[in-house]
Amino acid sequence: ALVSMRQLLDHAAEFSYGLPAFNVNNLEQVQAIMEAANELDSPVIMQASAGARKYAGEAFLRHLIDAAVEAYPHIPVVMHQDHGQSPAVCMAAIRSGFSSVMMDGSLLEDGKTPSSYDYNVAVSQEVVKLAHSIGVTVEAELGCLGSLESGMAGEEDGHGAEGKLDHSALLTDPEQAADFVQRTQCDALAIAIGTSHGAYKFTRKPTGDILAISRIKEIHTRLPNTHLVMHGSSSVPQELLAIIRQFGGDMKETYGVPVEEIVEGIKYGVRKINIDTDIRLAMTAAVRQYMFENPSKFDPRDFLKPAREAAKQIVRARMQAFGCAGQA
Ligand code: G3H
Ligand code: 13P
Ligand code: NA
Ligand code: ZN
Repeated sequence: ALVSMRQLLDHAAEFSYGLPAFNVNNLEQVQAIMEAANELDSPVIMQASAGARKYAGEAFLRHLIDAAVEAYPHIPVVMHQDHGQSPAVCMAAIRSGFSSVMMDGSLLEDGKTPSSYDYNVAVSQEVVKLAHSIGVTVEAELGCLGSLESGMAGEEDGHGAEGKLDHSALLTDPEQAADFVQRTQCDALAIAIGTSHGAYKFTRKPTGDILAISRIKEIHTRLPNTHLVMHGSSSVPQELLAIIRQFGGDMKETYGVPVEEIVEGIKYGVRKINIDTDIRLAMTAAVRQYMFENPSKFDPRDFLKPAREAAKQIVRARMQAFGCAGQA
């Protein structure tokens, strides 16, 4: 059944587990996630970015989720708008049937330029007011996620988010987070704690403490009833990179967020963990290998089957690690 994000996250907080939130834009990803959830009896968060809507179209996305709910009626499913860039985008998603939206007011509508604090408060307040009147959950964001594009690289060298003055200024400030939540009344808050989006997070193997765990603790202490969200949470498995390279891919050395560190974050209030890149890597590795080993095949189902299976294995592993298996 389609449920509200608030309901799932409240349950996760009560029983101290985390929920992976997977980005989807096609049939095989939705099927992979639902098959894994069904096998493990886990609740599901699926989310669509602006890019996903552009690729698949609003109607296809909505009906893919409806199909998931119809095929697996016993699994609680949240359909969430990822990184809504304006109140208008969030309203459109709500009208389209999403049960949860992210108003990312940490950036201006271009999705790139960091905004002012007052702008962020104002747009987040506006979305919360409307969404809450109709039972839709709102995630907001405070702080700057690292991004290679904007030059605000997370903790590129793999040495942890805290001991670095230039970077720690970009982490979410606990005092400001408390004021922000009090003023906006958002249900969930995405915080900057050392991660960044995409496959290229860290150029060297993380040596531990890649996440600003003490920052998570400080924020959680001030906001015990706000569900914390971690974006940029792909782990970038080295074995997937190896398969991609072995079968003709060209990806440079890169590292993600170790699963154990995410599990540590969950102990201190992280409830929603956004993952997109790991599913992309899993599907690409499987497709490359299949195409290489079966050069005469040409039916897309032949290579989409192993791609779907590879995505499912990633989803299963994260559901087990984060503790949501058995919680549906
Ligand atoms: O927030 C980032 C997600 O990975 C979405 O990526 O905009 O390419 O769909 P996308
Ligand atoms: P990754 O690129 O680490 O998978 O993060 C995805 C994300 O945060 C989507 O909002
Ligand atoms: Na941000
Ligand atoms: Zn994100």
